[in-house]
Amino acid sequence: MKNEIEKLKTLFERDIKKVKTMNELNDLRINYLGKKSKIQEFSTMMRDLSVEEKKECGRLMNEFKTYVEVEITNLRKELEAKELEEKLSNEKIDVTLPSTKINVGSVHPITKMINEVEDIFISMGYDVVEGPEVERDLYNFEMLNLPKGHPARDTQDSFYITEDTLLRTQTSPVQVRTMLANIEKTPIRIICPGKTYRKDNDDATHSHEFHQIEGLVVDENISMADLKGTLEVFAKKIFGEKREIRFRPSHFPFTEPSIEVDVSCFNCNGKGCNICKGTGWIEILGAGMVHPNVLNMCGYDSNKFTGFAFGIGPERMAMLKYGINDIRNFYINDKRFLEEFDKVEKVSYESK
Ligand code: PHE
Repeated sequence: MKNEIEKLKTLFERDIKKVKTMNELNDLRINYLGKKSKIQEFSTMMRDLSVEEKKECGRLMNEFKTYVEVEITNLRKELEAKELEEKLSNEKIDVTLPSTKINVGSVHPITKMINEVEDIFISMGYDVVEGPEVERDLYNFEMLNLPKGHPARDTQDSFYITEDTLLRTQTSPVQVRTMLANIEKTPIRIICPGKTYRKDNDDATHSHEFHQIEGLVVDENISMADLKGTLEVFAKKIFGEKREIRFRPSHFPFTEPSIEVDVSCFNCNGKGCNICKGTGWIEILGAGMVHPNVLNMCGYDSNKFTGFAFGIGPERMAMLKYGINDIRNFYINDKRFLEEFDKVEKVSYESK
């Protein structure tokens, strides 16, 4: 039996040299140590041996088993290391290869413009307030001093949903909502950006869907001079420090007096060019002193409080600021336009 074990050892030494993979190593282990292995057969055969022989053979068998186990463990470690090395060398990353292009979105030019206007007014202590796009006729018109049948309603041809609800034609109803919601009737200083809708035929300067940024200040002793100072700061921040503004009389039912505001042309510095149509001035927004009727309807005593309001068109601002000549560009979502625009960081008018 001693000889048998020696033979088995020689066989094992020959077999283990042939092993190249983990699977083969597994088979080898089963062959030499498994339930049906030779060594197990020997254990059964040992029963017939004398005590002395049993001792001797048992020792030899245990030695053989330990030897096989150690050899297999060593080889396993070797094979594992080899496999890992192969895997690593196969998965080598070539850092010099060009990367995959990821399409990154950009902020829409109108959103950018609104953010810029918001920042200016926030720096002057204004709050930003929003209101619903589906609005009540009451807030969009009536409480803004535009009763049913008022001729000025025709200038804001509206998308009605029911007799009393419509897509708001202006952001001015947010003024009404804010004044009504202020139960203590404390002073107000807000801007309200948002989408507005009118039944306009779309062309280069008109869109049935557009934006407004409403401004409202209500307090005691607010005057036209406050309005002028505020809008001057605004115009200079947007169009450059050298800009001047001027007021022209106008009419809005919810302001009295009402004005239109022009800024001196940032392109020709007032000399006259095609952007300002030779006048040296560019119209930028409508404004005025809040009509006493509006204050009273919204619960502010017009004997005590005065206020000013203004309406900014971010599309018009962006078109002027970035030299865009068709308002439809903002809405057709042509990626090429939007991406192109994203590259144009603020045009500086200071150098002109
Ligand atoms: N809401 C007005 C419009 O759409 C603009 C405006 C707002 C004018 C506030 C004066 C004061 O025409």
